[in-house]
Amino acid sequence: MYALLPTDRPIQGIEIGLWEGGNAVRLLTKFPNLHLTGIDPFEGYDDWHGHIPADSMHQREGITMRALDPFADRFTHIKRYSDAALELLPDGAFDFVYIDGDHSHKWASHDITNYWTKVKSGGVLCGHDRSLSGVAQALVDFGHEFTPTEEPQGDSWYIVKP
Ligand SMILES: C[S@@+](CC[C@H](N)C(=O)[O-])C[C@H]1O[C@@H](n2cnc3c(N)ncnc32)[C@H](O)[C@@H]1O
Repeated sequence: MYALLPTDRPIQGIEIGLWEGGNAVRLLTKFPNLHLTGIDPFEGYDDWHGHIPADSMHQREGITMRALDPFADRFTHIKRYSDAALELLPDGAFDFVYIDGDHSHKWASHDITNYWTKVKSGGVLCGHDRSLSGVAQALVDFGHEFTPTEEPQGDSWYIVKP
């Protein structure tokens, strides 16, 4: 999916779910022309591998912000859940949205459907963990054929918006 992202002009991307910022750093390093908006409330939540307590997520917020400090001029953090961030983001404006937040069927469906509207024509809706049941079912429900990819990390997927 890297080959689909322009390198000859500024691009705008979104990552839903930052964890410790590893993938955000990867994207910002790979694309010096990228401005990335990262969305993560850094609160406790239940995901496929169990409950993640709030105190550990509060610590991860600090880890993430330190990791992204070198990219401060190209990174914006929205400290909200993905659905609450929608109102802050213009429609049809982003070259890509990478979805890697809550992997339950409910949230994966919300994110895929809602953030499709944020991607510009010719841009890319993509995400992680296509093998997890909640994500896999949400992709089936969405109805657009996706392409499996190992970029920016394994078990990812993408759909180019017509
Ligand atoms: C799997 S981790 C993200 C990993 C990160 N993308 C990476 O590859 O380095 C999932 C993250 O999603 C966040 N998250 C959970 N539910 C969310 C939601 N509804 N909206 C935004 N972020 C959410 C969690 O706080 C957690 O940091």
